[in-house]
Amino acid sequence: MNHSTKHKTCLDKNWKSYIGELSKYVSFKSISSEPSKQSECIKCADFLCNTLKSLNFNTVERVDTPGLPIIYGHYLADKNRPTLMIYGHYDVQPADPLNEWDSAPFNTRMDDEYIYGRGVSDNKGQFWTYIMALRTIMETEGRLPLNIKLIIEGEEEIGSHHLFEFIDKRSEELKSDIFLISDNPMLSKNQPSICTSLRGIACFELSIQTSQTDLHSGLHGGAVPNALDVLSRFCSEIKDKYGAIRIPDFYENVSIPEHIKPDIKNTLPTDNDYLKNCGSYYLEGEFGYSSIEQRWYRPTLEIHGITGGFTGPGIKTVIPSKASVKISMRLVKNQHPKAIMARVKKYIKSTLPQGVLWSINEHHGALPLAINKDHINIQRLSNSIQAIMGTLPICHGEGGSIPILAHFQNALQIDPILFGLGLPDDNIHAPNERFLLKNAYNGVLVICHLIEQINNGT
Ligand code: BES
Ligand code: MN
Repeated sequence: MNHSTKHKTCLDKNWKSYIGELSKYVSFKSISSEPSKQSECIKCADFLCNTLKSLNFNTVERVDTPGLPIIYGHYLADKNRPTLMIYGHYDVQPADPLNEWDSAPFNTRMDDEYIYGRGVSDNKGQFWTYIMALRTIMETEGRLPLNIKLIIEGEEEIGSHHLFEFIDKRSEELKSDIFLISDNPMLSKNQPSICTSLRGIACFELSIQTSQTDLHSGLHGGAVPNALDVLSRFCSEIKDKYGAIRIPDFYENVSIPEHIKPDIKNTLPTDNDYLKNCGSYYLEGEFGYSSIEQRWYRPTLEIHGITGGFTGPGIKTVIPSKASVKISMRLVKNQHPKAIMARVKKYIKSTLPQGVLWSINEHHGALPLAINKDHINIQRLSNSIQAIMGTLPICHGEGGSIPILAHFQNALQIDPILFGLGLPDDNIHAPNERFLLKNAYNGVLVICHLIEQINNGT
């Protein structure tokens, strides 16, 4: 029996129990943004430590930080053999709005095709594919042929704050030859793909105040500023009518990579395909760019929430003194979150009316990621995908962000290879999140095949 057949037989035998373990993993309410869920996060981290111990990892550490723990596991096969690094995150987004779920978010449910639950695609199920692959090799071969370094963090959804320091402190120890991650969608059900770029991000909240206190709108209306007026003008002017962001120098050195242009023309989904599937009622966006370019290679600015004024029942005739807005910007190659934030502040200063008090609260930021599509490990992964799934993958970009990846790339001089096992309609961060079981199944076999390839030096 060749290796792939052995792996498949073994996977078929254990599939039910592997998915049972995944359901247990999903049952932890590991929501990193909610302080009340800290103990759930720690329980989830301990569950992962036990999983790695059961795989005979030589070292399994729960690295406690001022935030949520990082799990680091090391399996030493032989120090002369190559080392594979695998990264994932155990934290998930909040499950609300709860009434829009068809079943309880932390209790998985399955139908013929999918498993459902919060985090089942982003990132617990995609990551679990690696655990299933390692279990499969362990069971068929009795050992893992490569050295494995596994990092699973609990703060990805809130900016990976403490992982930066962990990597800097232990950069020598973390050196590896190949780096795999699955925390992104593949192009479509029948089109496997390898992602070669992600956008970065910069987030902030702007708060303004226009008077000492709220003022009666009859007594004062007409003579004094209204904080909501000022803030909504700011928001409505930040992009021009063609969708371009008006912050000076925002687009400095930004361009669409040449290599994607033929794919946009020939193979990638058109604007119409995209409109049909994305759930939006119509398309908008920066003039002169296709939706692919807009989502993968152009920077954006989005308003996420505006607070201020009276929103209770009826009308209260008062002029609000305070208002605030939460904004994020997706960044692309040649844009740095710190430099962009400096431009944002300069823009705010120059556009808000004299006399307005304002303050800005900077949240997380991350650099964008770009990998050369001719990378040897992309070639290897393509071979494995074709061998198992029968289709050659397409290289593509993505618009989401995985904050730590560019730091891995810079600090460890290693290119993360993004093997997307999710799908664009997995409902990540939304109600009824799901993960295609076939992708998990094929994913396991692809990972086993790839490990074989690396082991054979091909
Ligand atoms: N898995 C996503 C990243 C992703 C989404 C990649 C879609 C490619 C396509 C990740 O867990 C995520 O949601 N990241 C956040 C990061 C942010 C909170 C710093 C994001 O992109 O909003
Ligand atoms: Mn996410």
